[in-house]
Amino acid sequence: MVVAAAPKAPFLLAAARRPAGHTPVWFMRQAGRYLPEYRAIRAKTSLLEICARPELAAEVTLQPVRRLGVDAAILFADILLPLVPMGLELRFAAGEGPVIGNPLRTPADIARLRAVNPREDLAATLETVRLVHAALEERVALIGFAGGPFTVASYAIEGGSSRHFAETKRLMYGAEEAWHDLLARLAAFTVDYLAAQVEAGAQAVQVFDSWVGCLSASDYRRFVLPHSQALFSSLRRLGVPAIHFGVGTAHLIETLAEAGGEIIGIDWRTPLSEARLRLPDHAIQGNLDPAALLAPWERCARETREVLRQAGNIPGHIFNLGHGILPQTPVDTVRRVVDLVHELTEGQS
Ligand code: CP3
Repeated sequence: MVVAAAPKAPFLLAAARRPAGHTPVWFMRQAGRYLPEYRAIRAKTSLLEICARPELAAEVTLQPVRRLGVDAAILFADILLPLVPMGLELRFAAGEGPVIGNPLRTPADIARLRAVNPREDLAATLETVRLVHAALEERVALIGFAGGPFTVASYAIEGGSSRHFAETKRLMYGAEEAWHDLLARLAAFTVDYLAAQVEAGAQAVQVFDSWVGCLSASDYRRFVLPHSQALFSSLRRLGVPAIHFGVGTAHLIETLAEAGGEIIGIDWRTPLSEARLRLPDHAIQGNLDPAALLAPWERCARETREVLRQAGNIPGHIFNLGHGILPQTPVDTVRRVVDLVHELTEGQS
């Protein structure tokens, strides 16, 4: 394990459950369509093309840092990019989200997946990390990320976004050996990919297992936990904090923590006061409802204060939303939330 110098960024201090000067704040999907400067780039360039051009991806990563004054930047990429070198045909269809032309439906499909070397096959993303790292001030942390094994598998199997995860669960229940093979391969690749991001300058990593909340606790234990546990135990060797995030996980909070991660992401359905009690040994991240940013300012401010009150004046809280920023969010409201969180917590733990 690498022994790092004492971190100065409030995000890294809070991640280590140390007093941070103020509660650090960043937003999932902080780079994106609610920002006019992002839309201007997207008008001329597809999502995949932005990801393939490091200068452009770095610029888009830095846009919210400049505009909002957040305490962390998150690499601009997508959890589904690694599926392309694995042999899947990925495109982002307007209004439809991701579409995979040749989804995995059988054990034979899974056996055909190509092994990926992130340093070669995802070189553009790693170059983006290097560029952003060089451009950031020390007080702003750079977060790398990857999808969690269940969530990436679900897109690869469904061929896109899903409501019931029917094909995913059909394969999980019906071809258990192939399922475990798939998740083990995704987890092993993800260790390699995140290690390469850390080498390139990422100071923390987030694993987005966004959709694990669709599983019961016992199915999570049987079908996902061993793979996530292997993933996070390898990540510990990287010497950077790892955030473990999922949505609709009130029934899984302790189990996600058991799988790993120093910081657990909490969505808006679980009060942070409850999360604190259930996770006494972890930092927590969250959990304003993304829709609160659509409310009149006074209402949004009240909800923001409530999140801080529930987190308590205890080190180890990273302010965020419970899920990503919605595209129709007014930029000014986002900026005011950052200022309010900083103002209300200035000088506290
Ligand atoms: O600012 C950031 O958060 C960094 C960049 C980022 C993107 N995707 C870019 C993106 C991150 C961290 C992701 C993660 C991601 N991608 C997740 C996990 C987070 C979550 O929301 O649960 C998932 C499930 C995906 C897959 C994905 N990518 C979907 C379902 C979609 C379509 C839905 C949507 O929001 O439009 C995408 C497209 C995508 N990835 C956009 C962005 C900014 C949409 C904007 C565009 O078309 O320009």
